[in-house]
Amino acid sequence: MNRQKWLLRLVLLLFSVVISLGISLIAASDSLEFPRNYQQDFVHYASIACPNSRIVRQIYANPMAVNAAKESKPLPDGSLIVMETHSAIADANNQLTPSRLNNVFIREKQSGFGAEHSENLRNGNWKYAWYSPTGSLVSSSEGSCLSCHTRVRDRDYIFTLPDLAIAAQTNELQSRPTEFGLSVCN
Ligand code: HEC
Repeated sequence: MNRQKWLLRLVLLLFSVVISLGISLIAASDSLEFPRNYQQDFVHYASIACPNSRIVRQIYANPMAVNAAKESKPLPDGSLIVMETHSAIADANNQLTPSRLNNVFIREKQSGFGAEHSENLRNGNWKYAWYSPTGSLVSSSEGSCLSCHTRVRDRDYIFTLPDLAIAAQTNELQSRPTEFGLSVCN
């Protein structure tokens, strides 16, 4: 190989390294991807009614998270949980029927996620995002998500982890409010 060709190859190699590094940096700082098919592919494990605000929260977990919860194991990297909030119509007994999907909240666990946060705010390896029902990003600002979810630090920052475990073991949708009750239902 002559010197010129060798140099050209070296330049091309360096160029591709720089490009792929750039792409991975952008991906790392980027928000979570919207999991398009979660309604089909995930398990709908909880439905929690907030009668004061007339909102129903529908919560889904991906199969990887459900399988771990079934065996009472910690949720592995790659676990994804989606929570929809719906406006609802109340009947005479204040029982709610969801009428319109308004928001989709997402959390994903991956090694290295959350490393940019201080130790007291960080939610382990979880990262959060807020999407519209059509999958456009509403906000990737995580401050409020992180600080409220630290209340359940002892169960991997997941309010509904006990419900996920029961649903994974029984295949039954869970609908009791968490022990924090209506104070966090808004
Ligand atoms: C004021 C407290 C509070 C804030 C702020 C908050 N959450 Fe939550 N979140 C909850 C509670 C409580 C639940 C359990 C469902 C329920 O009780 O209605 C929950 C449940 C969830 C779940 C289902 C899994 C779980 O942890 O049980 C996801 C996903 C979620 N929240 C994402 C988010 C995202 C994304 C944000 C920020 C945009 C956020 N949350 C901000 C209190 C909060």
